Amino acid sequence: MSEALEFALTLYPSPILRRTATPVTDFDAGLERTVAAMLELMFTSKGVGLAAPQVGLDRRILVYNPEGDPEQPEANRILINPVIVSRDGDKSLYEEGCLSFPGIYAEIERPDRCTVEAYDIKGNRFEQEFSGFESRVVQHEYDHLEGILLVDRMSPADKLKNRAALAELVERYKSTRS
Ligand code: CO
Repeated sequence: MSEALEFALTLYPSPILRRTATPVTDFDAGLERTVAAMLELMFTSKGVGLAAPQVGLDRRILVYNPEGDPEQPEANRILINPVIVSRDGDKSLYEEGCLSFPGIYAEIERPDRCTVEAYDIKGNRFEQEFSGFESRVVQHEYDHLEGILLVDRMSPADKLKNRAALAELVERYKSTRS
């Protein structure tokens, strides 16, 4: 009865990526289909995380799998309407990529730990503390729900280093719209 969804990646500089995403209100079969399709696209794109605006959806949904491995579905994580209630720990630099910025990588500074309040796919509220790589992924994907992108957090040196690749994305976007 229900048709499987198929999403495509929304790339920089699509304005969809700049919106503050809207909370999920219906924890229903539609949400389950959306999450399943997001995970599928994340894995086929070789990503470890994906936020709904990256598939053109104005919803506060993020998925990730710290193993980046579709053979380990038990490592799939789904956060609905997440709120980062605190960030702490030392700040560290780590090279991040983003499926909305193919081929672009930059050293991004973030606090090592964060605590998140969120809902699971059934609508149950929970709180969880994250550290290390998982904390970084969560903070990166959460940025997407706030319309904040990799390019906003890059150092001036990384922006310069990636200048040609960023300009190419802008050109590609313009050409698909003309
Ligand atoms: Co991203």
